[in-house]
Amino acid sequence: MKRTKKEHYKIAWLPGDGIGIEVLEAAKIVLDKVNLPAEYIHGDIGWDYWCKEGDAFPERTINLLKNVDAAMFGAITSKPVKAAEEELAPELKGKGLIYRSPIVRMRQLFDLYICLRPTKAYPGNPLNFRNDIDIVVYRENTEDLYSGVEFNTVPDELAETLSKLSKPFDKFKNLKSNDYAISCKINTRKGTEKIIRAAFEFAKANNRKKVTVVHKANVVRATDGIFLEIGKEIAKEYPNIILDDANIDAMTMWLLKNPYNYDVLVAPNLYGDIISDLCAQMVGGLGFGCSGNIGEDLAVFEPTHGSAPKYFGQYKVNPIATILAAKMMLDWLGEDERAAKIEKATAEVIKEGKVRTYDMGGDDKTLDIAKAIADKI
Ligand code: IPM
Ligand code: MG
Repeated sequence: MKRTKKEHYKIAWLPGDGIGIEVLEAAKIVLDKVNLPAEYIHGDIGWDYWCKEGDAFPERTINLLKNVDAAMFGAITSKPVKAAEEELAPELKGKGLIYRSPIVRMRQLFDLYICLRPTKAYPGNPLNFRNDIDIVVYRENTEDLYSGVEFNTVPDELAETLSKLSKPFDKFKNLKSNDYAISCKINTRKGTEKIIRAAFEFAKANNRKKVTVVHKANVVRATDGIFLEIGKEIAKEYPNIILDDANIDAMTMWLLKNPYNYDVLVAPNLYGDIISDLCAQMVGGLGFGCSGNIGEDLAVFEPTHGSAPKYFGQYKVNPIATILAAKMMLDWLGEDERAAKIEKATAEVIKEGKVRTYDMGGDDKTLDIAKAIADKI
């Protein structure tokens, strides 16, 4: 899955909006310092394009992503369906355009089935919950409750079919079509196998001892049942790695109680979303959560935080998450040495504590952090 080094790369550069623009600017300073032989190609994406064109992820950006080695993505403002409709340009209103998160679409369109979220407590970070936390989350990234199969108004045919097929549906069958809504949690065997195998392969390649399968199979028996069952099957192929499993609710408690019990976590999409935020908070919060959306042909790297419109223009947010995302991109491209340089310099800046953004108790600006990291390379 990991690439082999090339002499020249094409990287799609997708700042998005809000502070996405600022943190990507910071990451660029660091990438330039390691002299990555790359052409960075800007792609339009984000709230402005929704308002002006009715599409936050325009076709031209999709085409750009078909022709690059990897992409860096900043952040995007998104709003609930009704609020989004109100901000459309007048000529686009009333056309039935529906806002869907560009990053979720991107993950599905390009089958970026792995969401890789390493969470490491860098020594000296005053925001660490405990020292030495080093947990890696493998989140399934295209299925589950993110499948996009949802009904705000439930069609009669669907209600009829469900009343024939499902006993528990009796409770809902006399409701009117818009008195309830349905969001489908769809998990395929193939998609589940792919993410679980990826987590075990990672554990094997990196000498990790344990993989914990996160689920709620005691209640959500069909879909999470598959997830756990396949986890157990695949684990047999990796006799040197311990298989562990836990319900998502208990998992949140145990993670806080003893983070050292965990090594690699693998989870369906929504639980992975939740658990990765919890992990990020244990190693410093929004400023440290980095993420790779990885498929066979393309990988897109991003900070996990949002676009924080209220901070936009102030250059005050912590860019470390995005700088670590750039490091992940280099790892994926096979640029191990350059990646290691960025991580080492970032760790040094964190440890020294001379340059810090507000979240870490300092008053330095976004680009000051990037320059301090670049100076150590
Ligand atoms: C994340 C985010 C996204 C998600 C949102 C912005 C759609 O929370 O990357 O974790 O839910 O996957
Ligand atoms: Mg999230």
